[in-house]
Amino acid sequence: MDDSTAIGSNIAIRIRNQKVDKQARKSLSVFYQNLEEALDLRRKNYNLFTILQNIWQISDAVDFSSNDILSLGSSSLLRREFLNELEKNPSFSPGSGGSRVLDGNYPYLEETEQQIAEFHGAESGLLFASGFDANVAIWTAIPRLGDVIVYDALVHASTHEGMSQSLAMARKEFLHNDIESFRETLVSIAETQPLIKSRKRCIIVAVESVYSMDGDICPLQELVDIAREVFVGEEGTVQFVVDEAHSTGVIGENGKGLVSALGLERAIAVRLHTFGKAMSAGGAIILGNNTVRTVTINFARSVVFSTAPSFPFVAAIRAGYNLLASGQTEKVIFKAQDRVQQLVRMFLDAIVSHPHWGAAQDLGVIAIPLTVDTWQSQPYLSHIVPIRTQEPYHYWLFFHLIFKGFSVFPVDYPTVPKGQSRLKITFHAKNTMDEVSLLVKTIFEFVQEVVEIRNATKWGNEVPSAARSVYEWMEKEKLTGFGRM
Ligand SMILES: Cc1ncc(COP(=O)(O)O)c(C=O)c1O
Repeated sequence: MDDSTAIGSNIAIRIRNQKVDKQARKSLSVFYQNLEEALDLRRKNYNLFTILQNIWQISDAVDFSSNDILSLGSSSLLRREFLNELEKNPSFSPGSGGSRVLDGNYPYLEETEQQIAEFHGAESGLLFASGFDANVAIWTAIPRLGDVIVYDALVHASTHEGMSQSLAMARKEFLHNDIESFRETLVSIAETQPLIKSRKRCIIVAVESVYSMDGDICPLQELVDIAREVFVGEEGTVQFVVDEAHSTGVIGENGKGLVSALGLERAIAVRLHTFGKAMSAGGAIILGNNTVRTVTINFARSVVFSTAPSFPFVAAIRAGYNLLASGQTEKVIFKAQDRVQQLVRMFLDAIVSHPHWGAAQDLGVIAIPLTVDTWQSQPYLSHIVPIRTQEPYHYWLFFHLIFKGFSVFPVDYPTVPKGQSRLKITFHAKNTMDEVSLLVKTIFEFVQEVVEIRNATKWGNEVPSAARSVYEWMEKEKLTGFGRM
């Protein structure tokens, strides 16, 4: 591995940072020693986070990793629209001047919330600095004392953060995207929780439109139907909170999200749309009716005790919505939403029709769970495709792809459960068909190498060539981890 290149140095820093250096700790004060010890726990598991330059920004690597799904971040379109918003409001102040409930409210902020709510077919909206904040706000403000939360096993960390602080009487998990598990959970709550049985309290369900690590889509219509079946004539007892972080801008007409795509706007009490991904801005909005908005304003501490979103921040969000609402992202400029769908279909098609696909699955070299069985019949696909591998193949595939110029990330515990490591591939409107074809070809080069190693027992501890070059470098640097013992 050549660590003087952008890609080599990116990997070198990532690996070097995991080294535990007990000697260097000795001269530190107890305060810093304790902090370093906490970091050492991460280093020992090779999962210390490192903030690095994105390799697709500093080299020719192709972006198959960022969340800029519609590629608005790299088009001048959004920038122009943002500057238009600033020009239309020449007397804007860069700050908001206070909390929403004090001096921080202003007409542009309220108009934008209303514009976004109308776009998604909701009564009202409330903007937040981030999706994380908004999820904490939802789960601390909405469930009332005695309510029960039911959540999909794979909901985001921010939902867990909020749920752990909520007033709800109990929290029950159901198996990921599993309709029968959901039904059983509802039935058992209906039978065992007196306040739910007597319909004095509610069940509040947490799901996501698209799950970020598995890239699969929530069977929302089926879940809503089951809630109606279990609580016949008492539909209000079960209410849904749908986190649309990964579907905003991507799924449904003009990117309105899954709830709108299914026509479930009236059935879903609360939606969360975030703007840091396909919208190429930051922040998030909670959508619901006026009661949901007022409750959130009153009980979410990040609304009451934090400064309101500033004008430039809101203007960036509004610029993105101008493009979505006018259909520019979909129809006029570069058919961004259609293009993402087309590229994902092309990728999956090329993968499953590859002559080595069957062998790769049988040997556990690569697998694409969940999506692969159903993708052909799905009306829309998610732009996130996880490639599951045995450990440590996910590192080996990561090294292989990154050296061939593809920006992708291995995903490990604690981001995913132990034993479920994977490589996450994310598609964008700016990706080309040639890039996708080359990606597939490069993945199967790796498969072939692993299959050859597996079939040739005489190779002993042999690893594929990209991993070998990294391991040779690690040996010189006396480093372990990333599949090297
Ligand atoms: C499903 C989901 N919800 C919420 C968030 C948090 O959003 P934000 O990045 O705006 O804080 C994320 C971010 O990764 C997410 O994936």
